Amino acid sequence: MPVPLLDIQRQHAPLAPEFNEAFNRILESGAFILGKEVQAFEASMAEYIGVKHAIGVSSGTDALLVALMALDIGQGDEVLCPAFTFFGTAGSIARLGATPVWVDVDRESFNIDLEDAARKLSAKTKAMMPVHLFGQACDMDAMTTFAKEHGLAVIEDAAQAIGAEFKGKQVGGFTELGAFSFYPTKNLGGLGDGGLVTTNDDVLAEKVIKLRNHGMHPKYVHQLIGGNFRLDALQAAFLDIKLKYLDKWHEARGQHAAAYREALKDCGAFELPAILPYRRHVWNQFTLKVLDGRRDELRNYLNAKGIGSEIYYPIALDQQACFSSNCRGGGSIRVSHELAASVLSIPVFPELTVAERDEVIEALKQF
Ligand SMILES: Cc1ncc(COP(=O)(O)O)c(C=O)c1O
Repeated sequence: MPVPLLDIQRQHAPLAPEFNEAFNRILESGAFILGKEVQAFEASMAEYIGVKHAIGVSSGTDALLVALMALDIGQGDEVLCPAFTFFGTAGSIARLGATPVWVDVDRESFNIDLEDAARKLSAKTKAMMPVHLFGQACDMDAMTTFAKEHGLAVIEDAAQAIGAEFKGKQVGGFTELGAFSFYPTKNLGGLGDGGLVTTNDDVLAEKVIKLRNHGMHPKYVHQLIGGNFRLDALQAAFLDIKLKYLDKWHEARGQHAAAYREALKDCGAFELPAILPYRRHVWNQFTLKVLDGRRDELRNYLNAKGIGSEIYYPIALDQQACFSSNCRGGGSIRVSHELAASVLSIPVFPELTVAERDEVIEALKQF
């Protein structure tokens, strides 16, 4: 039986009547950008995450960009960034003329290694961008202590981790700013691009709201140079519908992860992802570390059986050609390189059936 890595249709098909109702409502309203649909969604998100302000933007990448802009990060500033993450985390830093400083990650959690971060500090370091990778929160006690000690602003890249918790508190509300993505493969995925900036700081919130619309306030008065980072009404309405089901989907992902962790615990060919203390892991990805250089062999083997898998991420950011000059800290990155050569993510989407999950388990046991 083929098993897809993700089948978004299974999630959307039952929601079609609700989506159609929202589509017709917005079509009739003629109001397609920002407006009351976006405001309603922002209120839902602020309540769900437990933050004072949730500001809808055009993508997760733009959420990171606007968050950096709100902190006035630019030329001459350095921002600590994990070398093992999605490109957008670092791209947003470089686009503003600031310098991404590569920090290695912890092998067990896949998240930023604060000991390495300490080694990478300089007089120019202004901020850091920890990523709650694959749906598991960083240690936010250690993070906030580190940031305070060194006078750094922190932007949480929570693109993959909506609903993830550390000590009972959701990510996105621990530091100055949080950034979320609603890319369709995320736990809360739109029917297109979308993102969110979160903050508990009124001044930063006001700045983000201006920046997402060309720094404009009031109309045609521009106090800041922002951009078009606006969220569409349709996306906001679709996401607001999906938000009602998010915790149920998180639970299903958690059940798949628990079943994999139990059934595969004695497999010697790979290491299973760990759940660290005080965490609610939301399993945007279930990522194996394949041992003995056999990652591509395992991927080909699963592929031959029709089982979907993906490599997040095959190249560490310090090794990307576009960062050959405008960055710092690359010399000592070791774990990120090891992970780039050994990780493989397997199906963990909520609608995966038990029969499909068993198929994946059997295939992995036989490898
Ligand atoms: C860790 C991380 N940061 C940033 C992003 C960027 O989000 P988007 O694709 O919505 O621009 C993503 C999603 O792809 C991501 O996984």
